[in-house]
Amino acid sequence: MKFFIDTAVLDEIQEAYDMGVLDGVTTNPSLMKKVGVKDFHGHIAKICEIVPGPVSAEVTATDYQGILDEGREVAQIADNVVVKVPLILDGIKAIKTFTEEGIDTNCTLCFSSTQALVAAKAGATYISPFIGRLDDISSNGMDLIRQIVQIYDTYGYETEVLAASIRHPMHVVESAMAGADVGTMPLDVIKKLIDHPLTDAGLAKFLSDWEALQGAEEPAN
Ligand code: E4P
Repeated sequence: MKFFIDTAVLDEIQEAYDMGVLDGVTTNPSLMKKVGVKDFHGHIAKICEIVPGPVSAEVTATDYQGILDEGREVAQIADNVVVKVPLILDGIKAIKTFTEEGIDTNCTLCFSSTQALVAAKAGATYISPFIGRLDDISSNGMDLIRQIVQIYDTYGYETEVLAASIRHPMHVVESAMAGADVGTMPLDVIKKLIDHPLTDAGLAKFLSDWEALQGAEEPAN
């Protein structure tokens, strides 16, 4: 399973990349707003310098021609830019065109398996089902991941399932068990994947025993 970080904060991206397990980055307009980004293209360029893997940059146009114009521009920022396109009719049409032009796409705001099926038929590189936002409205986000994986496997679609809107480690565990290709998550969730109290307690005991051994006298035999 590939790990993407879901943020526009450069320090967080650098920290996750330095861990050695980061494969890519996803951003969206709300994440850009959190950072107060004014120079969108410049900011995406900085992210692409930190992470050599796929970096999703979202378009804000909602009409076919506007999406194409914006997408073609951001695709030129760096080789690893993935154009993030909303799952609307004009977005699907644009994804089809981007696919024909060899531009990678991340089809975002997916909340149903029928949407995911259409995105795959258009040739999207990634489909982003939003697990957390479905859970928020008492729907089961993980069921959607399972349905999409099954449908894509059945027909051999190459579109990668990118589990998005991940809120906690169990979302990662269940996405991995369901066969999602990628999980995108905030830095705190990536860090939580490593934490375990028994690891901490075990390490503390090993180190204190080692310390005590250094002060101990040599046994007689
Ligand atoms: C995906 O690419 C989105 O940026 C993201 O996962 C949305 O997550 P949220 O529901 O926590 O805003």
